[in-house]
Amino acid sequence: MARNKTYTEIVAGLDIGSSAVRVVIGQLTVSKEGDNGLQIVGAVEVPSEGIQKGQITSIEDTVSAVSSALEQAEKIVGVPIEHVWVGVSGNQIITQESKGVIAVSRTDGEIAEEDIERAVDAAKAISTPLNYEILHVLPRGFSVDGQTGIKDPVGMTGVRLEVDTKIIHSVTSHIKNLSKVVYRAGVDIDDFVYLILAAGEVVTSNRQKELGCVVVNIGGPTTSIVVYEDGDVLHSAVIPIGSAHITNDLALGLKTSIDVAERVKVEYGECVSKGISKKETIELKDLGSDTSEIVTKYYIAQIIEARVGEILEKVDEELASIERSSMLPAGVIFIGAGGKLNGMIDIAKQELSLPAQLGYPLGVDSISDKINDIAFGPAIGLVKWGSVMTGGGRRKTSFNVTRKATEKMKGILKNLIP
Ligand SMILES: Nc1ncnc2c1ncn2[C@@H]1O[C@H](COP(=O)(O)OP(=O)(O)OP(=O)(O)O)[C@@H](O)[C@H]1O
Ligand SMILES: [Mg+2]
Repeated sequence: MARNKTYTEIVAGLDIGSSAVRVVIGQLTVSKEGDNGLQIVGAVEVPSEGIQKGQITSIEDTVSAVSSALEQAEKIVGVPIEHVWVGVSGNQIITQESKGVIAVSRTDGEIAEEDIERAVDAAKAISTPLNYEILHVLPRGFSVDGQTGIKDPVGMTGVRLEVDTKIIHSVTSHIKNLSKVVYRAGVDIDDFVYLILAAGEVVTSNRQKELGCVVVNIGGPTTSIVVYEDGDVLHSAVIPIGSAHITNDLALGLKTSIDVAERVKVEYGECVSKGISKKETIELKDLGSDTSEIVTKYYIAQIIEARVGEILEKVDEELASIERSSMLPAGVIFIGAGGKLNGMIDIAKQELSLPAQLGYPLGVDSISDKINDIAFGPAIGLVKWGSVMTGGGRRKTSFNVTRKATEKMKGILKNLIP
């Protein structure tokens, strides 16, 4: 009944990172015409606890960080948060290619949505690696009786339908630990989403995804990437080096504590040393060091430049593995707090020979200024993803996804494949 008129729904995204736990709350307005509007109404971050290198090392500590983030978010929006879309990231993700083949069921050979579901199911039948479970199945293209490159075969005629999918798996124990944390924090789980996919969707336009681009999320211990081309996900990877490595390098190079090194990085860090005067210095004592120590900004930039260079080199290796090194016309788009370092855009243009920019959420209204903070990109991505899933939003094939069983697959694919 309520569906006959405009209604609103709260959609929450939870990004449990190694450095910070972020909660973003969106208000989804669904009109009877199906024109949905999403507005971000609250965004909070608290320092992470109990999570290292993307892995939960203490359930209890993580629960306390998540609970505190949720409480703060509830205070801001003034309504209880009952369920959340939970991001999955870290090194516990693997991707497999899989093909599903079926015979078209109707005697006249017209392909129906049920055939697509069966083809995707057939693709899911590959053996899942031990201790992993399927997080997403991304249909990448179909072929009908050998004719390849079909995006949407519904209504076409044929005998044999094939689908190429990318299957994203996550370590089962990680999902179990995340579930425990979220339930103990007192909220239900809408679903788990591979974080970089959700993030990539919200910071790229359809045109950028058509042309080809890479979204790079620089976090604490990890950097994750997703590459788009022809509107679809072409590749994704998690690189086990992130901005926390820069802090460690600074601590070693400046012979100071991690806390002082972190302040040096955030307050004075530059990714490009060229052009910085060797005369400009800072006093570590002013940044919390016990002892007095004068260091040049040039030296700091050199340390940062070396490590950022390495991160970008790894990104380039991933691009080279799919033959897209310096070949993505819409360039590189940075998100994650690690992307906020001064000079990131310049060094990326140089090292990757690609256009570069910071990634801000597109097509999302916000009353929170956190929308302009690239650290919130992944959590905002979760809210956008959740709003498309719950609100039956604009049909979008790149949101093709599911982790749960066939019934859900049905509903989702109906919403998603035009
Ligand atoms: N203003 C800033 N300038 C530069 N670096 C920053 C800034 N703010 C935070 N960082 C760095 O960003 C990193 C954390 O990024 P982020 O919060 O996106 O990670 P996370 O999501 O918690 O971790 P992960 O995704 O790897 O699990 C830290 O290493 C921190 O030092
Ligand atoms: Mg992160």
